Amino acid sequence: MKIKWLGHPAFKIVSDEGTVIYMDPWIKKNPVCPIRLDDVIKADVVTVTHGHDDHLGDALEIVKKTGALLISSPEICFYAQKHGIKWDKGSYSIDIGGCATFKDIEIHATHAVHTAAIYGEEWNNNEEMIPNGASMGYVLKLKSGKTIYYAGDTGLTMDMQLIGEIYRPDIAFLPIGGRYTMTPRLAARAAAMVGAEYIIPMHYNTFPFNQQDPIELQRLIDALTARVKVVILKPGEEFEF
Ligand code: NI
Ligand code: MN
Repeated sequence: MKIKWLGHPAFKIVSDEGTVIYMDPWIKKNPVCPIRLDDVIKADVVTVTHGHDDHLGDALEIVKKTGALLISSPEICFYAQKHGIKWDKGSYSIDIGGCATFKDIEIHATHAVHTAAIYGEEWNNNEEMIPNGASMGYVLKLKSGKTIYYAGDTGLTMDMQLIGEIYRPDIAFLPIGGRYTMTPRLAARAAAMVGAEYIIPMHYNTFPFNQQDPIELQRLIDALTARVKVVILKPGEEFEF
C-alpha cells in the first residue's frame, strides 16, 4: 500500500488492490498541502473524523466530483445529505465501535477525545458553527493483511490500549501538534499503548502554533518502548509498505 501525507490531517492511501482512500482531505485552504483539488481525480472512499473545517475540508466536494463513498458519523453524513450527498447512497454512516466493508478494506470507527462542531459552508459564509456529537478515529484493515490506525484529532485516552490489543495495527497516524491535540509527549504514550511498528506523526508544522519536532517524538518513544519507528514525512511524501 502507498500512504501519502497531504499535510496536517490529510492522507491519500492506495491499497494493493488499487482502492483510493482520502482521509480528512483538507486541501484548498491547507497551507502545507502540496496538491490542488483539481489533482484529485479518482477516489473510492473519503473518510471524515469530525466536522472541524481542517477535517471536513474538501470531503464533500471530492465525493461529489469523484462518486466516492463518504464514510463518517451519522451526523456528518446527515449534514452531507443537506449539501447534496444522498444518505446511504453517496454516504455510509458508521458510529464508534461500528464497521463498514468496502472493496478490500474494513473501516472501523474508534473513539477520539476531541470536540466536534461542524464548521462547513455555514462557517465559511457567516461564521455559523453547527453543534455536533463526537469525533472519531478509524482503523483500516486491508485485505492485504495490513492494519492502519488513524487516530484523528484526539487527546490521549486509555482506549488506545484496547485499540492496540483488538486491532493490532501495523502503523498508526498520531497527531502531535499540541494546542488542539496531543503533544509529542502524550503521543509517545499513545504509541506505547497502540503497539504499532510504525508511527506517522500528523497535525503539526501547519501553523505557527503547532510547530513540533518529530525527532523528539522518536526520542520520547524510545524512552518508553522498543522497536517503534517514527516515519517522518514531509507533505507530499509517500511511505510504501
Ligand atoms: Ni479538530
Ligand atoms: Mn484539527
